[in-house]
Parts: sequence; C-alpha cells; structure tokens
Amino acid sequence: MTQTFDSLVSQFRAPGLRFEVGRGGLTKIVIKNEICQGEIYLHGAHVTHFQPSGQPPVLWMSEKSLFEEGKPIRGGIPICFPWFGPLASDPNAPGHGYARLNEWELTTAKTESSGEVTVTLETNIDSFHLTYQVCFGKTLALSLTVSLHESSKGEVPFEEALHTYFAVSDILRISVEGLEGVGYIDKVDGAKIKEASGQLIRFTGECDRVYLDSDTDCVLRDTDRSIRVRKANSHATVVWNPWVEKSARMADFGDDEWRHMVCVETANVGKHSITLAPGESHTLTARIEVE
Ligand code: BG6
Repeated sequence: MTQTFDSLVSQFRAPGLRFEVGRGGLTKIVIKNEICQGEIYLHGAHVTHFQPSGQPPVLWMSEKSLFEEGKPIRGGIPICFPWFGPLASDPNAPGHGYARLNEWELTTAKTESSGEVTVTLETNIDSFHLTYQVCFGKTLALSLTVSLHESSKGEVPFEEALHTYFAVSDILRISVEGLEGVGYIDKVDGAKIKEASGQLIRFTGECDRVYLDSDTDCVLRDTDRSIRVRKANSHATVVWNPWVEKSARMADFGDDEWRHMVCVETANVGKHSITLAPGESHTLTARIEVE
C-alpha cells in the first residue's frame, strides 16, 4: 500500500518531525530539533541525512544520486536484503535485493522528552516481513527486524546489510579501527580469503572487503572526529571505496566523489547469512555515534 502525502500528514504528528516532498517527488520524513537533523525516504526506508547538533553531516550522499521509483539512492543508508551484491542464481535480479527499491509504509512516529525521534517503517518481501526502527537523536540507532511468515513452507535463508556511506574529509587521511584481528574476502582480488592483517585499515586504492566473524565495534578515525559503529547480531562488516575507475563507471556516482566517502556496513552475508524457520525473527542493530 502506498501512503499518500496527505494521509501521512494527518495520521502522524510528532514534535520535530515533518513530511516533505523530497527529490524526484518522493516522500521524505524530515527531523529537525535542538539535538539533531535527519531525513528518511519512504522509498527504500532510506536514511539520507543525519547530523547531530554542532557536527557536520555524518552520512555522505552523492550529488549524482537518482531519486526514482525502482532505482536505488546512492549514499546515506541503503538496506540490502534479501541478498547482498548480485544474486548468484539470477544475473538480472537487482543488486543488493529489493528492500532499497520498495516503497515502505510508515507505521509509528514518536518524539521523546529528550528530543529523540523514532520512526518505524515496514514492508513485505517474498515471505518476509521487515520492520525498521530508526531513532534520530545525539546518535543514530538503526534496528532491522526480519520475520518469516508463519505460512512459509519451510526455512528460508537471507543476507542483509545496513550499507552505511560515511562522509569523510579525505579517504587518504582516514583509518578504520576494529577489524585488524579478523580475516576478510577481498573482492578486488578474485574474492580470495585473506588473513587478519593486524593493521588499521588505510586506503590507497579500490577497497571492497567482507570482514568475517567481525562482531565488535568499528571506529572511523578522521582528522577532526571519530565515528563509532556499535552493532549487535551482525557477524560481517563490509568496507568499500570504489576509488577512481569504478567511480567513473558508475552513472550515479560523481567521478571525484570517492575521495569523500567510505562505506562501513553492518552486515550478515555469505557464510554469516541468516536462516529463519516459519514464525521466527531476527533483529540486526547498529548505533552510529560521533565521538
Ligand atoms: C558494496 C559491495 O557493499 O556495495 C560492492 O561490496 C558494490 O561490491 C557496492 O560495488 C555498491 O553497490 P551498488 O549496487 O549500490 O552499486
């Protein structure tokens, strides 16, 4: 069901929250109060902006992003589900699955006395029901619950990722801490499995890695701030920067924009995919804090 703009405005009232017609005519929820600013589109339940007061924006958005039904938004936090990357069994299936292409339904919106604004969006994909709760406050808290319908004929596996694009001063000057003790799949080197490097991640070329058994926090160290990603029920972390040539190949990504972004994605993919039995649920969470 697509919610009309007027029905949203009349049904949901919460201090610090308003609805706007966003880019491409798509509906967005805008949060603005004394503790933070944020935005989330119903298209893809896609968070496109988060900025705690006194800080520059935490999330990166491409100036070349499309805002179109049936197309993913480039930047912010796309939700990858029920598969990650291309679907092995069908090369024509959309990359990263349907969640970022669906029109989600807003089901709750609430403001706490602290100023935190929490919205819940829901959608159905195949035999799954997805509930995404996003709390905009001094931190950004994301919680994705996937439930398999009781009527499903058996167990069903899925992959998922909160594909977070962070804004950085300069990719050449940042590092990512927290993954030095775990091995990874190196997607820019034939998907070879590499051993733990024991080093912070620094960027000197295209990086597309799936860190395995990575359950702990990651900290993005930038020149003027650090951003901590705390997570629960996530066993994989994807780190991505397309660098020069891949950026040039992507129509919805500016040729020089790679320098100012990095993705650190809270995920369950590959050997960490999740399998649910009918009636079961799984919740993935990430909390993004500026330190
Ligand atoms: C990353 C993948 O998570 O997403 C990369 O590891 C991929 O391989 C990138 O290129 C962007 O994907 P898309 O479908 O949004 O262009």
